[in-house]
Amino acid sequence: MSERKIVIFDTTLRDGEQSPGASLNTEEKLSIARQLETLGVDVIEAGFAAASLGDADAIAKVAQEVRRPIIASLARATKRDVEEAGKALSKAERGRIHTFIATSPVHVEKKLKMSYDAVIDVAVDSVKLARNYTDDVEFSAEDATRSDWDYLCTIYEKVINAGATTINVPDTVGYTTPQEYYELIQYLKNKVPNIDKANISVHCHNDLGMAVANSLSAVLAGANQVECTINGLGERAGNAALEEIVMALKTRNDFYKDCYTEINTEEIHRTSRMVSKLTGIHIQRNKAIVGINAFAHEAGIHQDGVIKEKQTYEIMKPKDVGIETNNFVLGKHSGKHGLEKRLKELGYDLDKEKLLDVFNDFKKLADKKKEIYDEDLRSIIEEKFKVVPQIYKLVSLQVVSGSNTSPTATIKLVKNEEEFQDAALGDGPVDATFKSLERITYVKGKLLRYDIQALTEGKDAIGEVIVKVYFSDIDKNILGRGTSTDIIEASAKAYLDAINKALMYM
Ligand code: KIV
Ligand code: ZN
Repeated sequence: MSERKIVIFDTTLRDGEQSPGASLNTEEKLSIARQLETLGVDVIEAGFAAASLGDADAIAKVAQEVRRPIIASLARATKRDVEEAGKALSKAERGRIHTFIATSPVHVEKKLKMSYDAVIDVAVDSVKLARNYTDDVEFSAEDATRSDWDYLCTIYEKVINAGATTINVPDTVGYTTPQEYYELIQYLKNKVPNIDKANISVHCHNDLGMAVANSLSAVLAGANQVECTINGLGERAGNAALEEIVMALKTRNDFYKDCYTEINTEEIHRTSRMVSKLTGIHIQRNKAIVGINAFAHEAGIHQDGVIKEKQTYEIMKPKDVGIETNNFVLGKHSGKHGLEKRLKELGYDLDKEKLLDVFNDFKKLADKKKEIYDEDLRSIIEEKFKVVPQIYKLVSLQVVSGSNTSPTATIKLVKNEEEFQDAALGDGPVDATFKSLERITYVKGKLLRYDIQALTEGKDAIGEVIVKVYFSDIDKNILGRGTSTDIIEASAKAYLDAINKALMYM
């Protein structure tokens, strides 16, 4: 049995949410936090309380509802930030204040315009203040990897004396290398006199594509907390990907001998999908561990090898990350029991009413599509039980388009049991559909992004559309998502999803 537990600190809801275009509302953050708890992360950084009222509210709700993991809030090293973090975490079972200040010359001299001594004083005061709210205080030296190593030793020693229980060594701009980072962690371990009183944490960005390698190297050097995000989401090129770190430690346990995490790896796939769905950021097909192609074998020689012996070309079992490979499940003739059984296996335990609802959609889909895969079932469920209230629901859609006709979309929606219908012309069928939705709902938006991808295989695959729409009435960019075997219908659902979300602010 391995003996060194590596604490998994997930910052999807804080650093991940800073990804361009990835903003999440409170309900969405709560859904992700619940799933992160199921995944087994040790710490959830739920946001940055002082950044906005919305952030503070989301942290407070996560802290109130998600009880097993430690819930953290980021705070700059200022009185106001630390107090806001303390307030937001007041209901947490175990709350952590994560306070930070930059330590590298370019940040201290050009951004903060402070003396190096003053930076230390501010850091120490913030940690002391944070300790009034919780016994669990983390201190980060922002841009640590471009800071003077002896200065780092001094500031870490002082904040530990002031009560910091974790010291974090961020590679804020993804600048370090595995060897250099290893040496830095070793240096801190050897030179900070009270280092045994704190956990050493690492936090790597992926600007040079080395975030995961750097994190793992730091673990070898003695770090015992890794900060990471689902799907590697995060500022610029992202943060170290949780799924890659966890699976590297597990798969290469022969190499990372004494290390283990408490992540339930079979929940990885589900968590990854949820984050992708709610942030609207598609996962690159060949992304390690969670990309659609991560376990696909295309080349004949590989397929032949895998059929003879899986280990020829597979170092991990898809099942270990929650991917079912024998997932051709149901068809037109399958009954409610078969569907219920499969849904249970996929982790959906539905009451009778919901099951019937899903069964009806399943039957409709089975009329259009011969083979129903797990991904199809997941789409039905996700479509049905959206976290966003469905103010308007799509009843029907009829689109006429072709080489010599003006594309026209006629749409019927229902709101509070009342039906509304209208039609619109457009430059293409999608444009006509969006215009028709806007005419019915009186909500106008500007389409900023339109992404489409096939979720399953074959010509009858389910298509997923993600749109990003700017609504000037509320001055917000909002994501919408829709799925269907018909891509125009998927587009209509995605746009309507964005409209429904926008209506919540109106
Ligand atoms: O990248 C970084 O330095 C951070 C800190 C605030 C920990 O996200
Ligand atoms: Zn960061």
